[in-house]
Amino acid sequence: MKILGIESSCDECAASVVIDGKKIISNVVASQIEFHKPYSGVVPEIASRKHVEWIYSVVEKAVTKAEINKNELDGVAVTARPGLIGSLLVGLSFAKAFSYSIGKPYVTVDHIRAHLYAPHLEYAIEYPYLGVIVSGGHTIICLADSFDEYEILGTTIDDACGEAFDKIAKYFDWGYPGGPIIDSLAKKGDPRAFSFPKPSLHKGDHRYDVSYSGLKTAVINQLDQFWNRKYEKTPENIAASFQKQAVGMLVDKVKKAAADKKVKRIVAGGGVAANSEFRKEMSEIPGAEVLFPSIKLCTDNAAMIAGIGFHYLKNRGHSPLSENAFSRVAGFRKTYP
Ligand code: KG4
Ligand code: ZN
Repeated sequence: MKILGIESSCDECAASVVIDGKKIISNVVASQIEFHKPYSGVVPEIASRKHVEWIYSVVEKAVTKAEINKNELDGVAVTARPGLIGSLLVGLSFAKAFSYSIGKPYVTVDHIRAHLYAPHLEYAIEYPYLGVIVSGGHTIICLADSFDEYEILGTTIDDACGEAFDKIAKYFDWGYPGGPIIDSLAKKGDPRAFSFPKPSLHKGDHRYDVSYSGLKTAVINQLDQFWNRKYEKTPENIAASFQKQAVGMLVDKVKKAAADKKVKRIVAGGGVAANSEFRKEMSEIPGAEVLFPSIKLCTDNAAMIAGIGFHYLKNRGHSPLSENAFSRVAGFRKTYP
């Protein structure tokens, strides 16, 4: 089955054609970064306007690049939650109209689950496994039993991991988006320069949870308090020390969850899964098989939407045209939708 995926939940306007949830035959991502850069963050109104302007040509490009006629598509998959509501509605409305016009079914997809599907486009991965979804909006450690059956073990209790990267880079005026900038600054810095505190979330319900707001506050407001004066107070050293701690606290929880649940296979996805320190520390977890998507499939794309959408269409059937978009995360039940 050839599925067209459409992704417009945030600041990437993307479309892709994927065969049988596996083979990517086109993958178009039109990034709006330049338009949001002056504000050091995504401006929802600008995002939805750009999606309105771009969606038609992005989809057309994906179909053309796939070297098929749109009538050869077997279905359409589109992100319907979570995200910016105006942006989501552009993609959802387009997907409904487009699928109707070609007489093919369409299905709505959850963006977070799609992130964890991304590595399945590149590797044959068997369930169950420990899933780690780490992006600008979400930080989740879960047990994945199938493409849509998850048990959440831990999440962030405040900021998402990527959000902390972005906010710190914004504060120091290092650029936008902060994640890749901090990643490259950190390569030239020494993580021993600042000893930032770790949150003590290790008991009861918080056993696998993480928290980033304390670390963010320490970096922004209490820098000197944690400064080891043998090292210089440079952006590189701040970035390296922050990144080491941000990644370390998450990887610690992943290790703990994998050991407690006796799971050897760990699969990661989401924008922060592109981080070099995260990839290094995760790969070093003893006795674990750790899989990441390639960098291009870590950040928002529509191949992951088409990929997971194939399974929904095959196993669950299509969505009704009355389906709406939702800005918030759907309560992670055991089964979706
Ligand atoms: O998955 P994504 O594209 O969008 C969401 O669903 O949120 O993730 C974007 C996030 C941003 O916070 C960005 O700064 C972060 O991923 N990111 C990174 C890296 N590349 C992207 N964070 C750390 N290191 C990176 N190399
Ligand atoms: Zn995303």
